[in-house]
Amino acid sequence: MSRRTFTMIKPDATEKGHTGAILNMINQAGFRIIAMKMTKLSAEKAGEFYAVHKERPFYGELVEFMSRGPITAAILEKDNAVEDFRKLIGATNPAQAEEGTIRKKFAASVGENAIHGSDSNENAGIEGDFFFSKLEQF
Ligand code: CMP
Repeated sequence: MSRRTFTMIKPDATEKGHTGAILNMINQAGFRIIAMKMTKLSAEKAGEFYAVHKERPFYGELVEFMSRGPITAAILEKDNAVEDFRKLIGATNPAQAEEGTIRKKFAASVGENAIHGSDSNENAGIEGDFFFSKLEQF
């Protein structure tokens, strides 16, 4: 599992038509897509995915935003996938993201930050399995 991470291109980036450009940056950085789907989360499913943030003040806003429109979910493979992908996407708050990162380029705010990346190998497995059956992971 250490070679895999999970990502979601969020509703803000989908609405602005950035899905293709973001997938291209992911490929150019050497990640192989081993599962992918475009889907829309219900509020219930978004709440379940982000249950770890349930007690945070921004939880309601996060659930509302993540269920607002379509997302693209994917499992990615590369050596050191979790860490390298978090470098590629940049800081959670795009105002602090480095030049050349996906969030610097495409994110508007800490709430609407274009893309998600797993923060650990364990969560990469849990989050990938949330969206994809084993038969859908190549
Ligand atoms: P993500 O990496 O998907 O994981 C949790 C998300 O919560 C994060 O991206 C942000 O979109 C959101 N988030 C984190 N901090 C805040 C905040 N202070 N206000 C609103 N949303 C936040």
